[in-house]
Amino acid sequence: MTPRPRIIAVDGPAASGKGTLARRLARHFGFGYLDTGLLYRAVGLRVLRAGKDLGDEAAAVAAAEAVTAAELADPELRSGPTGNAASAVAKIPGVRQALFDLQRRFAAHPTDDRGRPLLGAVIDGRDIGTVICPDAPVKLFVNASLETRAKRRHKELLERGEAIIYARVLEDIERRDEQDRSRSVAPMAKAPDAFEIDTTGLDADGAFAAALAFIGSRLD
Ligand code: CDP
Repeated sequence: MTPRPRIIAVDGPAASGKGTLARRLARHFGFGYLDTGLLYRAVGLRVLRAGKDLGDEAAAVAAAEAVTAAELADPELRSGPTGNAASAVAKIPGVRQALFDLQRRFAAHPTDDRGRPLLGAVIDGRDIGTVICPDAPVKLFVNASLETRAKRRHKELLERGEAIIYARVLEDIERRDEQDRSRSVAPMAKAPDAFEIDTTGLDADGAFAAALAFIGSRLD
C-alpha cells in the first residue's frame, strides 16, 4: 500500500485567514506550501493584461494553460481587481481543468521554493479538501464573519496603497463568496470531514493553536 500523502488541505472564503494559517503550518511542519488562489489570480491577471473579457472562455483557458510557478511572485496578483478577476475565471471548467494537474503534482511531490523535495504539503484554496486532495489526512475549513473578513481585506488593500473604501471591499467579498459558493464546478465547500475554525474572534496565534490541536497525531 502506498502511504497516504501528508497533506493539510486548507479551504475557506476570501480573507478568512487561511493563507496566514497555511503558511504558518507549512513552516511548523517543514512542508511545502501552495496558495492555489494565486494560480486563479494569475489567470485573471493574464486575461486582464491581454485586454480580453473575463467571460472569454477561450482566452481564460489559454491563460490557465500558460501559467507558470515563476509568475506567482508578481505583487499585482494581490490587488483587489485581480481577486475579482480570479473569481470570474475560476468558474470556467476548462480553467479549473488546466490548473488541476499542477496542483495534483505538487500534492504528490511537494517541494520547497528551490524545488527540493519535502515530506508533505499545505495547500490552500476553495476545493482542496473536496476535489484536489479528497484523501488528505487533515482538512481545515477556515471561516470568519463577513464584516471581519472585509475589515481585514480593506486593511491589506490600503497597506498595498490601493485607494478603496470599506463598503466597496465588503461588496466585492460578498459577490465573490456568492460566486465561489454557487458555481457548478468545484464550488467552495467545507468537506464533511473538515475541521472548521472560525477566526472571527481569533488572532493568528489562536487560529494556529486551534489547528494544531485538531491535527494532533493525524499526520503520523
Ligand atoms: O485571498 P482570497 O481569499 O481573497 O482569495 P484567493 O484564495 O487568492 O482566491 C481568489 C479566487 O480564486 C477565489 O475567489 C476563487 O474564485 C478562486 N479560487 C478557486 O476557485 N479555487 C481555489 N482552489 C482557489 C481560489
